[in-house]
Order: sequence, then C-alpha cells, then structure tokens
Amino acid sequence: MRLGQSSTNNRNIDYPKLWDHVSRQFECELDSIHGPTHWRRVEENGLAIAPHSGAIVEVVRLFAVFHDSRREHDGYDTTHGARGAGFAASLRGVLFDLPDEEMKLLQYACTWHTYGKLNQDPTIGTCWDSDRLDLWRVGIQPSSRYMSTGHGRELAETRVFPTRSRRH
Ligand SMILES: [Fe+2]
Ligand SMILES: [Fe+2]
Repeated sequence: MRLGQSSTNNRNIDYPKLWDHVSRQFECELDSIHGPTHWRRVEENGLAIAPHSGAIVEVVRLFAVFHDSRREHDGYDTTHGARGAGFAASLRGVLFDLPDEEMKLLQYACTWHTYGKLNQDPTIGTCWDSDRLDLWRVGIQPSSRYMSTGHGRELAETRVFPTRSRRH
C-alpha cells in the first residue's frame, strides 16, 4: 500500500479533546506501559520521523492515540490493534475526520502494528517505527532491523535510550 503522500496535513483535529476521550475509556491503568504516556512518546517519535519519511502527519498522530487504546491488559494480546482500529472507526466523523485513503492507512497501521513486520508505505512505516522506538520502556533496545523508514533506522542506531526495567 502506498497511498496519500500528496494529501495535506491540516485536518483541524481537536487533539486535546480526542486524547481526553480516548484516555477516559482506556481500561488499563493510565500510567501502564501501554497507556497515554507511551502514546505521547509514540506521537513525538512520529513527528520526528515524518518530515524525513514523507508520512501523513495526521495519520501518524491518530495512530499514536488509537493503536493501544483498546488494550484490556498489558499481557499477550494480538487483537488489541484491530480493536483500536475499530474504535478509531467509531469516532470518525464524531471526534475527527479523515479522507477514505488516509483512514485506510490508519486502520492498517493500527490493526497490524503488533506483528513485527516492516512496511514500505511511508505513513505505515512511520507509525510502526514510532511505536518500536519506545520499546526501551519494557527493557528492549530498539533495533534498526525492525525499522521501516530510513530515519527510524537512524534513530534506532544513534539515539541513547533510557534504561528501564521490564515492569516500569
Ligand atoms: Fe500495541
Ligand atoms: Fe504501542
């Protein structure tokens, strides 16, 4: 899939309102390893990569807030991405809007983000790199081998990641 690179990045989305709504329904602890503090770092990573990769910024920002939003626990759960995608779809036209082709990218990125794959689409690749660059929080050193974008690989190789235990 390689869609939407010519789209604008201005969708006039009220992100604080969206984050508030999504955070309120999150079933795990707000400070859990898959909670809003993680989502925020994913967003920051995405905003750092997007100018280099050509990703659609709004999709990357929406991925950050939705991709783990439907986790019910912090254990093994391969379907939480699909549930996050479904949740995003339920709020389209309510708290945000996207053109169809950008929505497809968001749905794909959320649904498949846990499967360890790479993707050549700049937007999907940026979403997944942004998430994987935050693996340090669970004691895993991000690896350039699992990055889809050139800048994601560069960050994995050059960034000094904090040291964290698996529980915090
Ligand atoms: Fe996830
Ligand atoms: Fe995540």
